[in-house]
Amino acid sequence: MKKFLIEGPCKVKGTVNISGSKNSALPILASTILFDKYVEIKNLPRVKDIETMLNLLRSLGSKVVISKKKNSVKIYNKKRNKTFASYSLVKTMRAGILVLGPLIAKSYKAKVSLPGGCLIGSRPVNYHLNSLRRLGMSYKISKGYIYAKAKNNLHGANINFKKISVGASEQAIIASALSKGKTLLKNIAIEPEVKDLVNFLVAGGAKMKWLGKRSLQIEGVKSLNSISYSVMSDRIETGTFLIAAALTEGNLKVKNFNPKLIQTEINLLKKVGAKIKTFSNEIIIQGPKKIINIKNLITGEYPKFPTDLQAQFMVLLCKANGRSVIYENIFENRFMHIAELRRLGAKIIIKNNRAIIEGNTKFEAAELMSSDLRASAALVLAGVASKGKTIINRIYHCLRGYEDFDKKLRNVGVRIKRVS
Ligand code: EPZ
Repeated sequence: MKKFLIEGPCKVKGTVNISGSKNSALPILASTILFDKYVEIKNLPRVKDIETMLNLLRSLGSKVVISKKKNSVKIYNKKRNKTFASYSLVKTMRAGILVLGPLIAKSYKAKVSLPGGCLIGSRPVNYHLNSLRRLGMSYKISKGYIYAKAKNNLHGANINFKKISVGASEQAIIASALSKGKTLLKNIAIEPEVKDLVNFLVAGGAKMKWLGKRSLQIEGVKSLNSISYSVMSDRIETGTFLIAAALTEGNLKVKNFNPKLIQTEINLLKKVGAKIKTFSNEIIIQGPKKIINIKNLITGEYPKFPTDLQAQFMVLLCKANGRSVIYENIFENRFMHIAELRRLGAKIIIKNNRAIIEGNTKFEAAELMSSDLRASAALVLAGVASKGKTIINRIYHCLRGYEDFDKKLRNVGVRIKRVS
């Protein structure tokens, strides 16, 4: 099994190009099931989760033609798809559940594996199922599968989400695109990736209009038109590289990302002492000599601080000049990286959803184990800041979501390689 070997400490310096967004591409790819005509999706990141979603689409009967560089794809669908999404595909990537809505909307039936829990939390799909039921789907759960059907076209409904969920919002948006009549979705997620999905569907002829901050009105259309669409760049990859520069007193130009989409992260990095200049599609960061602690960092739904950068930011706060506190408010078990950071010398206490980070850590290299995607990115950053040779096991977690992570890091001065 492949591992990362990092010889630290290193300074992160130079220029990095941000890839397409995994979490934007996944729902967009799932929604291509709605189309009868072919669609082209560009700027895809070459990461494992995208490969899994393309395999899932293939298993549902879509013809998938990947470009030579593997970062764009043409997808051809028939009038009806196959309707069985297997456990073997959905268990490896929870976003697989997003094919349920479009399958029901287009083919009126589906058998989709219920995703299990995962290390960061139990992650139920009740809001997905409730909203699809409101749109006209009926279902039963048996032997780990959702057996769903609709009499014919889904119909419009007014749905007010009790809790803001990225995936459940995306599921309802996709399913309503072809429904009969008007749908009003209230209290939905407004992550840039959700907006990218709406922009994609609107480009294909869907009628969707934002009414106020968290409400989306959808008027179902009969079919969608053939289009070519480029997914947005990756917000979390951008944040991860900015944190890497801040952590190492580095100097980095981050290209191909609109800084307006990460104002919360940029303000926090300024608070810890980084100097940041922003341009229309570029960010330049100079890491501080002394990292300043943050008393209260709380993860939340966009535009609050993203849970997907919590682990990486914690590494930065380990080096701050005093105590910091992070509250994880989205997932109940997203502190798996802490035990590994302690092995590098970090002093962190966990109290329920609160991590108390002592600061002034002098990281010293050790062998580590990554537990999930963002935790593994955090361990890589900690390795970059550690003295000596850090080995990180189970890097397949990292490869699920970061395109060429080690290559990009090498290009900006990090001594990192993949070893067996
Ligand atoms: C998306 O997951 C992202 N995944 C996650 O990124 C991200 O961490 C998360 O949103 C939060 O921003 C993709 O976009 C593919 P949620 P999702 O539904 O949609 C609870 C990464 O590292 N909930 O917004 O699954 C849930 O348990 C990944 O790239 C229910 O209770 O997240 C959680 O506590 C990891 N019932 C909260 O809501 C439901 O039906 C928010 O989850 C749905 C969610």
